[in-house]
Amino acid sequence: MSDGDQLTALLGEQAAFYQAVAAEYDDHALPFTGGDELIQALDDFRPAGHVLELACGPGTWTPQLLRHATDVTAVDASAEMLGIAASRVEGRPVRFVRADLFEWRPDRRYDVVFFGFWLSHVPAERFASFWSLVADCLEPDGRVFFVDDWYRTDDELIEGEHSPVIRRRLADGTAYRILKVPHTPADLERQLDAAGWRIEVHPTSGPFYWGSGSAP
Ligand SMILES: C[S@@+](CC[C@H](N)C(=O)[O-])C[C@H]1O[C@@H](n2cnc3c(N)ncnc32)[C@H](O)[C@@H]1O
Repeated sequence: MSDGDQLTALLGEQAAFYQAVAAEYDDHALPFTGGDELIQALDDFRPAGHVLELACGPGTWTPQLLRHATDVTAVDASAEMLGIAASRVEGRPVRFVRADLFEWRPDRRYDVVFFGFWLSHVPAERFASFWSLVADCLEPDGRVFFVDDWYRTDDELIEGEHSPVIRRRLADGTAYRILKVPHTPADLERQLDAAGWRIEVHPTSGPFYWGSGSAP
Protein backbone atom coordinates (compact mmCIF):
# COMPACT_ATOMS: atom_id res chain seq x y z
CA MET A 1 0.00 0.00 0.00
CA SER A 2 1.32 3.49 -0.84
CA ASP A 3 1.83 6.13 1.86
CA GLY A 4 -1.20 8.00 0.48
CA ASP A 5 -3.37 4.87 0.68
CA GLN A 6 -2.20 4.22 4.24
CA LEU A 7 -3.08 7.75 5.30
CA THR A 8 -6.49 7.49 3.64
CA ALA A 9 -7.12 4.21 5.49
CA LEU A 10 -6.07 5.81 8.78
CA LEU A 11 -8.37 8.80 8.26
CA GLY A 12 -11.18 6.34 7.52
CA GLU A 13 -10.45 4.47 10.75
CA GLN A 14 -10.41 7.76 12.65
CA ALA A 15 -13.82 8.72 11.23
CA ALA A 16 -15.13 5.22 12.07
CA PHE A 17 -13.92 5.60 15.66
CA TYR A 18 -15.85 8.83 16.11
CA GLN A 19 -18.96 7.36 14.51
CA ALA A 20 -18.74 4.43 16.97
CA VAL A 21 -17.88 6.53 20.04
CA ALA A 22 -20.63 9.13 19.50
CA ALA A 23 -23.08 7.73 22.07
CA GLU A 24 -20.41 7.56 24.80
CA TYR A 25 -18.40 10.62 23.66
CA ASP A 26 -19.00 12.69 26.79
CA ASP A 27 -17.70 9.83 29.00
CA HIS A 28 -14.27 10.24 27.36
CA ALA A 29 -13.84 13.92 28.32
CA LEU A 30 -10.35 14.76 29.63
CA PRO A 31 -10.33 15.15 33.43
CA PHE A 32 -8.22 18.32 33.51
CA THR A 33 -8.50 21.96 34.39
CA GLY A 34 -8.40 24.53 31.62
CA GLY A 35 -11.74 23.73 29.98
CA ASP A 36 -13.39 26.74 31.63
CA GLU A 37 -10.65 28.97 30.23
CA LEU A 38 -11.57 27.82 26.71
CA ILE A 39 -15.23 28.62 27.28
CA GLN A 40 -14.35 32.06 28.62
CA ALA A 41 -11.96 32.75 25.73
CA LEU A 42 -14.62 31.82 23.15
CA ASP A 43 -17.15 34.05 24.90
CA ASP A 44 -14.66 36.94 24.92
CA PHE A 45 -14.00 36.35 21.20
CA ARG A 46 -17.76 36.76 20.52
CA PRO A 47 -18.35 34.52 17.45
CA ALA A 48 -21.04 36.75 15.93
CA GLY A 49 -22.64 36.68 12.47
CA HIS A 50 -22.67 33.64 10.20
CA VAL A 51 -20.56 30.97 11.86
CA LEU A 52 -19.14 27.75 10.41
CA GLU A 53 -18.33 24.97 12.88
CA LEU A 54 -16.05 22.26 11.50
CA ALA A 55 -16.13 18.76 13.06
CA CYS A 56 -18.97 19.78 15.39
CA GLY A 57 -19.24 16.30 16.96
CA PRO A 58 -22.21 15.96 19.35
CA GLY A 59 -22.66 19.74 19.53
CA THR A 60 -20.19 20.30 22.35
CA TRP A 61 -19.66 23.92 21.29
CA THR A 62 -22.69 24.64 19.10
CA PRO A 63 -24.91 26.04 21.91
CA GLN A 64 -22.11 28.34 23.00
CA LEU A 65 -21.57 29.59 19.44
CA LEU A 66 -25.31 30.33 19.31
CA ARG A 67 -24.94 32.70 22.26
CA HIS A 68 -23.42 35.14 19.73
CA ALA A 69 -24.01 33.77 16.21
CA THR A 70 -26.86 34.74 13.89
CA ASP A 71 -26.71 31.20 12.51
CA VAL A 72 -24.37 28.22 12.49
CA THR A 73 -23.48 25.74 9.77
CA ALA A 74 -22.10 22.63 11.49
CA VAL A 75 -20.17 20.01 9.52
CA ASP A 76 -19.17 16.52 10.66
CA ALA A 77 -18.57 13.14 9.01
CA SER A 78 -20.56 11.17 11.57
CA ALA A 79 -24.34 10.81 11.26
CA GLU A 80 -24.44 9.68 14.89
CA MET A 81 -22.64 12.81 16.07
CA LEU A 82 -24.84 15.07 13.93
CA GLY A 83 -27.98 13.43 15.34
CA ILE A 84 -26.90 14.12 18.92
CA ALA A 85 -25.85 17.68 18.03
CA ALA A 86 -29.22 18.34 16.38
CA SER A 87 -31.07 17.18 19.51
CA ARG A 88 -29.09 19.73 21.57
CA VAL A 89 -30.03 22.76 19.45
CA GLU A 90 -33.58 21.95 18.37
CA GLY A 91 -35.38 24.99 16.97
CA ARG A 92 -32.18 27.04 16.76
CA PRO A 93 -30.78 28.37 13.44
CA VAL A 94 -28.33 25.56 12.70
CA ARG A 95 -27.75 23.87 9.33
CA PHE A 96 -26.10 20.48 9.69
CA VAL A 97 -23.96 19.07 6.90
CA ARG A 98 -22.62 15.52 6.83
CA ALA A 99 -19.33 15.58 4.97
CA ASP A 100 -15.71 14.48 4.96
CA LEU A 101 -13.69 17.61 5.76
CA PHE A 102 -10.82 16.35 3.63
CA GLU A 103 -13.14 16.51 0.58
CA TRP A 104 -15.79 19.11 1.49
CA ARG A 105 -15.92 22.56 -0.09
CA PRO A 106 -18.05 25.45 1.25
CA ASP A 107 -21.00 26.86 -0.69
CA ARG A 108 -20.67 30.30 0.93
CA ARG A 109 -18.33 32.34 3.14
CA TYR A 110 -18.59 32.92 6.89
CA ASP A 111 -17.79 35.64 9.43
CA VAL A 112 -16.26 33.10 11.78
CA VAL A 113 -14.86 29.60 11.36
CA PHE A 114 -14.65 27.59 14.57
CA PHE A 115 -13.29 24.10 15.24
CA GLY A 116 -13.09 22.34 18.61
CA PHE A 117 -10.67 19.45 19.17
CA TRP A 118 -10.27 18.90 15.44
CA LEU A 119 -6.93 20.39 14.44
CA SER A 120 -4.98 17.78 16.43
CA HIS A 121 -6.65 15.10 14.27
CA VAL A 122 -5.45 16.67 11.01
CA PRO A 123 -2.25 14.95 9.85
CA ALA A 124 0.81 17.04 8.93
CA GLU A 125 0.32 16.00 5.28
CA ARG A 126 -3.11 17.71 5.27
CA PHE A 127 -2.27 20.70 7.50
CA ALA A 128 -1.72 23.16 4.62
CA SER A 129 -4.78 22.03 2.64
CA PHE A 130 -6.94 22.18 5.79
CA TRP A 131 -5.92 25.79 6.45
CA SER A 132 -6.46 26.59 2.80
CA LEU A 133 -10.03 25.27 3.25
CA VAL A 134 -10.46 27.51 6.30
CA ALA A 135 -9.29 30.51 4.26
CA ASP A 136 -11.78 29.62 1.49
CA CYS A 137 -14.58 29.53 4.08
CA LEU A 138 -13.89 33.02 5.48
CA GLU A 139 -15.20 36.41 4.45
CA PRO A 140 -12.32 38.82 3.67
CA ASP A 141 -12.55 40.22 7.22
CA GLY A 142 -13.51 36.86 8.74
CA ARG A 143 -12.05 35.46 11.94
CA VAL A 144 -11.06 32.02 13.14
CA PHE A 145 -11.18 30.47 16.61
CA PHE A 146 -10.17 26.97 17.68
CA VAL A 147 -9.66 25.00 20.85
CA ASP A 148 -7.70 21.77 21.25
CA ASP A 149 -5.31 19.78 23.44
CA TRP A 150 -1.97 18.02 23.13
CA TYR A 151 -2.71 15.22 25.64
CA ARG A 152 -1.83 11.59 24.82
CA THR A 153 -1.40 8.76 27.34
CA ASP A 154 1.56 6.35 27.23
CA ASP A 155 -0.87 3.51 26.58
CA GLU A 156 -2.12 5.29 23.44
CA LEU A 157 1.34 5.67 21.88
CA ILE A 158 1.35 2.43 19.89
CA GLU A 159 3.97 3.76 17.42
CA GLY A 160 6.07 5.72 19.91
CA GLU A 161 5.96 9.33 21.04
CA HIS A 162 7.22 10.73 17.72
CA SER A 163 4.35 9.25 15.71
CA PRO A 164 1.00 11.05 15.38
CA VAL A 165 -0.75 7.66 15.25
CA ILE A 166 -2.31 6.58 18.54
CA ARG A 167 -4.86 4.00 19.71
CA ARG A 168 -8.19 4.91 21.22
CA ARG A 169 -10.72 2.45 22.63
CA LEU A 170 -14.47 2.37 22.98
CA ALA A 171 -15.86 1.56 26.45
CA ASP A 172 -16.22 -2.09 25.31
CA GLY A 173 -12.49 -2.22 24.52
CA THR A 174 -12.72 -2.11 20.71
CA ALA A 175 -9.55 -0.41 19.49
CA TYR A 176 -9.10 2.06 16.63
CA ARG A 177 -6.08 3.90 15.29
CA ILE A 178 -6.54 7.63 15.08
CA LEU A 179 -4.26 10.65 14.64
CA LYS A 180 -3.42 12.93 17.53
CA VAL A 181 -0.82 15.56 16.66
CA PRO A 182 0.50 17.01 19.96
CA HIS A 183 0.93 20.62 18.80
CA THR A 184 2.43 22.94 21.36
CA PRO A 185 0.90 26.44 21.32
CA ALA A 186 4.24 28.09 20.45
CA ASP A 187 5.06 25.71 17.57
CA LEU A 188 1.56 25.91 16.20
CA GLU A 189 1.64 29.70 16.27
CA ARG A 190 4.99 29.67 14.43
CA GLN A 191 3.64 27.24 11.79
CA LEU A 192 0.57 29.40 11.19
CA ASP A 193 2.65 32.56 11.13
CA ALA A 194 4.89 31.01 8.45
CA ALA A 195 1.75 30.30 6.39
CA GLY A 196 0.75 33.95 6.69
CA TRP A 197 -2.02 33.60 9.29
CA ARG A 198 -2.29 36.23 12.01
CA ILE A 199 -3.24 33.87 14.83
CA GLU A 200 -2.26 33.82 18.48
CA VAL A 201 -2.28 30.46 20.25
CA HIS A 202 -2.74 30.56 24.02
CA PRO A 203 -2.01 27.77 26.51
CA THR A 204 -4.31 27.18 29.47
CA SER A 205 -3.56 25.85 32.96
CA GLY A 206 -4.19 22.31 31.62
CA PRO A 207 -3.31 20.48 28.38
CA PHE A 208 -5.74 22.62 26.40
CA TYR A 209 -5.01 25.60 24.16
CA TRP A 210 -7.01 28.00 22.07
CA GLY A 211 -6.18 30.09 19.04
CA SER A 212 -7.81 33.07 17.44
CA GLY A 213 -7.06 35.46 14.64
CA SER A 214 -7.58 36.12 10.97
CA ALA A 215 -6.58 34.90 7.55
CA PRO A 216 -3.51 36.00 5.56
C1 LIG B 1 -12.56 15.00 18.83
S1 LIG B 1 -14.12 15.12 18.04
C2 LIG B 1 -14.53 16.86 18.29
C3 LIG B 1 -16.00 17.08 18.40
C4 LIG B 1 -16.41 18.48 18.94
N1 LIG B 1 -15.94 19.52 18.06
C5 LIG B 1 -15.87 18.70 20.34
O1 LIG B 1 -15.10 19.64 20.54
O2 LIG B 1 -16.24 17.93 21.24
C6 LIG B 1 -13.69 15.03 16.35
C7 LIG B 1 -14.88 15.07 15.41
O3 LIG B 1 -14.38 15.02 14.08
C8 LIG B 1 -15.26 14.25 13.29
N2 LIG B 1 -14.51 13.75 12.14
C9 LIG B 1 -13.56 12.79 12.10
N3 LIG B 1 -13.09 12.65 10.85
C10 LIG B 1 -13.76 13.53 10.09
C11 LIG B 1 -13.72 13.87 8.71
N4 LIG B 1 -12.86 13.28 7.87
N5 LIG B 1 -14.55 14.84 8.26
C12 LIG B 1 -15.43 15.44 9.10
N6 LIG B 1 -15.51 15.17 10.42
C13 LIG B 1 -14.68 14.22 10.90
C14 LIG B 1 -15.73 13.17 14.21
O4 LIG B 1 -16.94 12.57 13.76
C15 LIG B 1 -15.86 13.93 15.53
O5 LIG B 1 -17.17 14.41 15.68
